[in-house]
Formats: sequence, C-alpha cells, structure tokens
Amino acid sequence: MKIAIVGSGYVGLVTGGCLADFGHDVTCIDKDEDKIEALERGEIPIYEPGLAELVKANVAAGRLAFTTQLAGAVAAAQVVFIAVGTPSRRGDGHADLRYVREAAREVADAVSGFTVVATKSTVPVGTGDEVAQIIATTNPAADVAVVANPEFLREGAAIDDFKRPDRIVVGIEDERARSVMSAVYQPLYLNKSPLMFTNRRTAELIKYGANAFLAMKITFINEMADLCEAAGGNVQEVARGMGLDNRIGGKFLHAGPGFGGSCFPKDTLALIKIGQDLGSPMRLVETTVSINEQRKGAMSRKVVAACGGEVRGKTIGVLGLTFKPNTDDMRAAPSLDIIGGLLDQGARIVAYDPHGMASARGLIDTVEYVSNAYAVADNADALVLVTEWDEFRSLDLARIKTAMKTPVLVDLRNVYSHDEVTRHGFAYFSVGRPAGAGGKSGLSGAAE
Ligand SMILES: NC(=O)c1ccc[n+]([C@@H]2O[C@H](COP(=O)([O-])OP(=O)(O)OC[C@H]3O[C@@H](n4cnc5c(N)ncnc54)[C@H](O)[C@@H]3O)[C@@H](O)[C@H]2O)c1
Repeated sequence: MKIAIVGSGYVGLVTGGCLADFGHDVTCIDKDEDKIEALERGEIPIYEPGLAELVKANVAAGRLAFTTQLAGAVAAAQVVFIAVGTPSRRGDGHADLRYVREAAREVADAVSGFTVVATKSTVPVGTGDEVAQIIATTNPAADVAVVANPEFLREGAAIDDFKRPDRIVVGIEDERARSVMSAVYQPLYLNKSPLMFTNRRTAELIKYGANAFLAMKITFINEMADLCEAAGGNVQEVARGMGLDNRIGGKFLHAGPGFGGSCFPKDTLALIKIGQDLGSPMRLVETTVSINEQRKGAMSRKVVAACGGEVRGKTIGVLGLTFKPNTDDMRAAPSLDIIGGLLDQGARIVAYDPHGMASARGLIDTVEYVSNAYAVADNADALVLVTEWDEFRSLDLARIKTAMKTPVLVDLRNVYSHDEVTRHGFAYFSVGRPAGAGGKSGLSGAAE
C-alpha cells in the first residue's frame, strides 16, 4: 500500500519505519526542514533503540522516503496518517489541536481518489468529527474516510511495541475504512495482535482512558511508597505482592519521582478538561494530577533532607535526565523540577545522561554537564539517581565513594539495595523502603 505520514517525530518516524518494514511504500512528511534533511542524510533526529537500523534498511530497500512536500506524497497515498504533536494548550490544559487542524487542511487540498485519513495523534473525543468537517469544508470534492487510530507505543521500546502491540484500535464511521485499515495492519493481525474496531469517538476515548489509568496506577504506588516510609514497609515488596494478582498486574507499579514525559502529563490534563467540558468530571484523574504535581517538590525536599537540610553552596550530582531510560525525550521530565527546586535552594548541579543532554541543554543551562557517571560524583556532596539507565545499575560504588566529598546517594528509582550501598559507607535514601524494612533490591525497578 502507499502510505503518507504527516509528522515525522517520535510516533511518525517509528510508524513510518515499521509500516515500511511490513512491505508498504511509505513517505514520512515533516514541516521541519532540518529534520527532513537530516533523515535524507541518514541521520536520525531522535534516540530510539533500533530506529536507525530500521530506517536505514527500509530506505535502502526503496520502501521509505522523506519529504517536506506534503502534496505529492498525500496525492499518491491510499492511507494518510496524521502524527503531529498535540501539546497542552497554555492555561487550560486542553489539547492544542492547531497542528492537527493545519494538517487536516493541507491533506484536504492534496488528496486524490478515495483516501483513508487516520489520526495517530492523541486527540480529544470528537476531533475525528472535526477533522472530517475541516476536510469537507476545505475540499468538498475530497473522498475520504476519517479514522481514529491512536498509538500506544512507549518511547524506548517503540519498535517492539509497534510490531507486537497488545492491541490495535481503529475507530471508523465509514465501512470502507475497515478493509483498508485491516490491510495496513495485516502482518500484525496474522501475528495475532487483536485488531479492534470501534466507532471513532470510542477509539479516541480508549487512548485517554489507557494513559490516565496508567498514570493513576503509578501515582497509587507512589502514595503507597510514602505510606511505606511512614509505616516501615517496603514498597517494592508491596508492589510485588499486589502485582502478582492477575487482576492488578505488576507493570506500572514501580515507585519513583512521579510520572513525566511527552504523554501522561498532557494527556491527563486533556482528559480532565474533556470531562469538565462535558459535565462529567474525571475526579480520580484530577486527584492523580494534583498528587503528581506535589510529588515534584517533595522529591527536591527529599534530596535537601538527605543533605542535612541545606544544599546552598553544595554540589549535587544528578544521574539521568530523561523522563525514562532509552530515550532522549526531555519533555516534562521529573529531573527538570527536581533540578529546578535544588537550584532555587542554592545548590550547584552537575549532571550526566547517556542520551538526554543535548535536549536538556536547551531547557536548563545553569547545570554543568559532564561525560560520565564518575565525573558526576567528582567532589559531590550528594548523588541523585533520577533515571534508571542500565549503565547506572552497576556503578563501581567504591570508586564513586572515593570521588565524592560526602557519600550520600538518593536513589529515586530504587535501583540499589540498602545493604549493598550502606556496606560501601554511603548514607542511602530510596523511595518507600526505609532502612531495615527488607532493603534487598533484586526486584527490578525496570522502566515500562
Ligand atoms: N511520543 C510518544 O511516546 C507517543 C506515544 C503515543 C502517542 N503519541 C501522540 O502522537 C502525537 C505525536 O507525538 P510525537 O511525540 O511524535 O511528537 P513530535 O513533536 O515528536 O513530532 C511531531 C512532528 O510533527 C511535525 N509537524 C507538525 N505539524 C506538521 C504539519 N502540518 N505537517 C508536517 N509535519 C508537521 C513537527 O515538525 C514534528 O516533527 C501526539 O499527539 C502524541 O500525544 C506520542
């Protein structure tokens, strides 16, 4: 099939690479000329494991191309995916749909013959109706079926998620779209990934429902972690004991510094706004967002407390900046708030992240960036592990201790065990695991 993808960011590029790998003929479109030029040179503008190889192989096979010129690619396509950003609108948290609307207008002008226009961007319920309306108004002769096809991939594991999804959700209003979308996803369907057809509004709601539920699950275990600290329990064991119950499941039950990233913060806010607008408030999600907001300040205070209540003039080393490992995405990363809070208190921050420093530099320039974990430890008064990259999981603690001014480790991802770290002479602080409450790690704090 001939497929065009409008927007070549984290979702558009992974979608394009994977659909090309299925054998489709794909063109990825973006307005950002630098991005397209880089892609044409064979450079991948984001860090996502396996993406560079996937893109390279499919470009070489002649199945994947890049362009800034939307019209030609859309005219030739049987299916056009819209994968542009839907950030939070300033002020009210509603999803900002300006890029989706603009893309819809441009697509309307360019389509030729019957075309399925599938929205991959995460959009509020009713947006599919609006996209259909925009296309009908812009080009009354256009013959299109507008479909909602939300994306569930996780950055850091995006290719595997796209190729082995738990489900593919397709919301349709025009029966002609059913066979077209089935053909797009046929390789996955043959692989037994459930292809679930709903109406368009239901599909739009599934995406927000899933993200808000996961954000709520993380927030629940974070509150349990606080309770564990107050009560003397171990949150990792509580999470394991809960998660082994199949009705609950163990994923997204890792206590930490609060959720961040490019999706959960904006999608929870958007769902709250949708509920308010429709007179059907999402009170659990409202509470989730408020708890998560408070947690950001609480994490800086935790570091300050670990430093004896004062960080002015002290050097705090930060390990990990991205909102989770295996991505370079810094959007709404908890590190930004934690570092901001510590800078406000007069600390000097030295930081290292394996792939996030280029993006981080554009967001916080008052941090000193260094090239590895041991340089972060150099003369530091405390180390804070914020993102659980694999390379932080087995640090040489003896070397770190020698490098530091005072051996204090604040492990916001529960990567280490209390016994192991204190044996090396550190003061150790983790999340929801008070000293003596069964401090064995072993249970993975893996990212989801
Ligand atoms: N990032 C994720 O993990 C993820 C997962 C699932 C769903 N989503 C959703 O997918 C959507 C895209 O997210 P993303 O992270 O890929 O965003 P992104 O910011 O990485 O990419 C969006 C791209 O669209 C381009 N663009 C905007 N308007 C355009 C236009 N009119 N024509 C051509 N290109 C245009 C931008 O230049 C940018 O490169 C969002 O709605 C997001 O909520 C994201």
